[in-house]
Amino acid sequence: MRHFLTLKDFSREEILEIIDIGLEIKKNLNSKIYNHELKNQTLGMIFEKSSTRTRVSFEVGMFQLGGHALFLSSRDIHLGRGEPVKDTARVISSMCDMVMIRTFEHSKIEEFARYSKVPVINGLTDSYHPVQLLADYMTLVEYGMEKNIIAAYVGDGNNMTHSWMMLAAKLGFELRVATPKGYEVDAKILEEALAFAKKSGAVIKIVNDPKEAIKGATVVTTDTWVSMGQEEEKEERIKTFKGFMVDDEMMSLAKEGAKFLHCLPAYRGLEVSDSVFEKHSEIIFNEAENRLHAQKGLMVWLDRKRG
Ligand code: CP
Ligand code: NVA
Repeated sequence: MRHFLTLKDFSREEILEIIDIGLEIKKNLNSKIYNHELKNQTLGMIFEKSSTRTRVSFEVGMFQLGGHALFLSSRDIHLGRGEPVKDTARVISSMCDMVMIRTFEHSKIEEFARYSKVPVINGLTDSYHPVQLLADYMTLVEYGMEKNIIAAYVGDGNNMTHSWMMLAAKLGFELRVATPKGYEVDAKILEEALAFAKKSGAVIKIVNDPKEAIKGATVVTTDTWVSMGQEEEKEERIKTFKGFMVDDEMMSLAKEGAKFLHCLPAYRGLEVSDSVFEKHSEIIFNEAENRLHAQKGLMVWLDRKRG
């Protein structure tokens, strides 16, 4: 049995296999051949933070695979009132066939997984957002952009950045990360990503100048400057991140035909200009839709691994 907590636990082949299943399911959406794949299975979905895409895509995805999804807000279950993670894990995994969790500390999902009898999926923690990267890479494949990727991530060194680093490190492409000073990526995660990069041939560069990162990039991406849980730092962050907005001038430094991705929700006028967002809205909303297809691929893959 496997869990999906971060991409660092997955090989290049496994990541590509999950994405392939997702693409296959997407291609056959109307023929409905995957409609019974997870028949009678229940996905428990624990949310300690807000969500639009993650909730809808997992719930719809499970339904389309013949199963059922259970939305569990931490406000409504005892986890939010102090029932231990390990007890919650043992109870929920005794009744559900798979569990997806969106929470704060990454250690919490690791603890849950240790006590869970069923596969656990990371639907975002403070440190990683790996399901988003499955959808992002699937989108690049669909747009024929997966060869010779030079990706530039501009903005906060956060869960999205860490997941981009792991994807690059595992798949072996170039990633430049530009953050303001003091908002760099986690040093330990960087060290781990660099160790994987050595084996895969990936190049991961960390800079503080967004222009340096974007120059010649084939894919440019960013994320909110104020992640969930950082609301109190909003004003200070907006001041510090000035100069990191991906606007037309920044995009003009990228390679001709470069694509812009955003995991959403996007804050126009902050991390991305309205003009860049709207010019790339087709790929951005395909990326959002691919959350559904990629995660269906993931759930099918996890189910098959369980035997
Ligand atoms: N990108 C993403 O995970 O969106 P939600 O926060 O809406 O789930
Ligand atoms: N970094 C953001 C991603 C939202 C999908 C957050 O954690 O809030």
